[in-house]
Amino acid sequence: MNRRYRKTIIAGNWKMNKTATETKKFAEDLKAIMPKAKWCDVVICCPFVNIPAALRAFKDLRIAVGAENLFYEPSGAYTGEVSADMLKDLGVKYVIIGHSERRQYFGETDVTVNKKVHAALEAGLHPIICVGESLEQREMNITMDLIALQVKSAFAGVPAEKARKCVVAYEPIWAIGTGKTATAEQANEVCNAIRATIRHLYGARVARSVTIQYGGSMNPKNAAELLAQPDVDGGLIGGAALKPDQFVEIINAANQE
Ligand code: PGA
Repeated sequence: MNRRYRKTIIAGNWKMNKTATETKKFAEDLKAIMPKAKWCDVVICCPFVNIPAALRAFKDLRIAVGAENLFYEPSGAYTGEVSADMLKDLGVKYVIIGHSERRQYFGETDVTVNKKVHAALEAGLHPIICVGESLEQREMNITMDLIALQVKSAFAGVPAEKARKCVVAYEPIWAIGTGKTATAEQANEVCNAIRATIRHLYGARVARSVTIQYGGSMNPKNAAELLAQPDVDGGLIGGAALKPDQFVEIINAANQE
């Protein structure tokens, strides 16, 4: 990370876990062990229905709340969907877009990801744009080309002043929920390439101000080493963000650098 130029952001991605009651309990447990001063921003992204409970529970802890998805249309006949304005109006700050599970199970593509990025920015939300390669793609040596394409597609048509508001999360699919982490060098190599793509699109100033996270089995044991990398500006954390003690250890690791 590099605090001079950009924010360090530790974000939990709860996926389809925890009820509203469990959200409240998590916040209470976290409160008892949370460090007083934080040198990083902390975000919890939770299921839509738990957002009001999360906003109430995390307010005192100065933890921002994020959503895990949105729909790109502003309103209308889209049964079951949630718009960017609905999230913004509640007090949501961040929204995960294009997580590999959404790409895999819900048919999201680089095109829908781009539409969602525009919708989020239009509403004043910070998108956390997920990119990452499968094991097969890594073995075929196409990781860098694929990631560059995912980043370029996600940012298509986004002007520079809005690009600064985006967060990118590099999440190798083979490391998500598998216990297999990318090495710190592998993570930094791809995060650095993401920054190079942003530099190519928007120039050096924007590139150095964008927060680029690593995600994929980040845990209290490997967090410090990953976060010490110059281009890894935080983490998007699944499993370890469900447990207050583990989540705090990762926040502490971000605090130490
Ligand atoms: P994990 O999930 O930390 O459980 O690997 C990360 C993610 O999918 O965002």
